[in-house]
Amino acid sequence: MAYWAWDSSYDIGIEEIDNQHKRIVQYINELHGALVLNDKDAVKDIFLNIADYTLSHFSFEEKLMREAGYHMFAEHKSTHEAFISTIGKYKFAFDAGRDITGQLMAELQIWLTHHILHEDKDYKECVQKMLFSK
Ligand SMILES: [Fe+2]
Repeated sequence: MAYWAWDSSYDIGIEEIDNQHKRIVQYINELHGALVLNDKDAVKDIFLNIADYTLSHFSFEEKLMREAGYHMFAEHKSTHEAFISTIGKYKFAFDAGRDITGQLMAELQIWLTHHILHEDKDYKECVQKMLFSK
């Protein structure tokens, strides 16, 4: 059984965004699997993939919000930036040889759940309107 199962309440209703969020959840499950096996190389690879993927996911969301003229764009972008700096701190800890995988997984899960349910759901209507008018 997966460490973290996708729940339909996380769907924001924009397919591409939902698929990207699901991919991040899948990465967190992969991270959990590597942690259980105590496979440090896999943990590192998966962490780097999560960091990369999250960056491109944020850029994708920001592009849509900007195009849609979303009124909270700047605030939303700054929550992304804050999270990018958190990921940077984890990367630093990783590189220093500290075992922070469990903490990272928990923080990713809490942050992502909150972010999807609140900030991402908030831009949904505005972005959907823009996508449907194309
Ligand atoms: Fe977001």
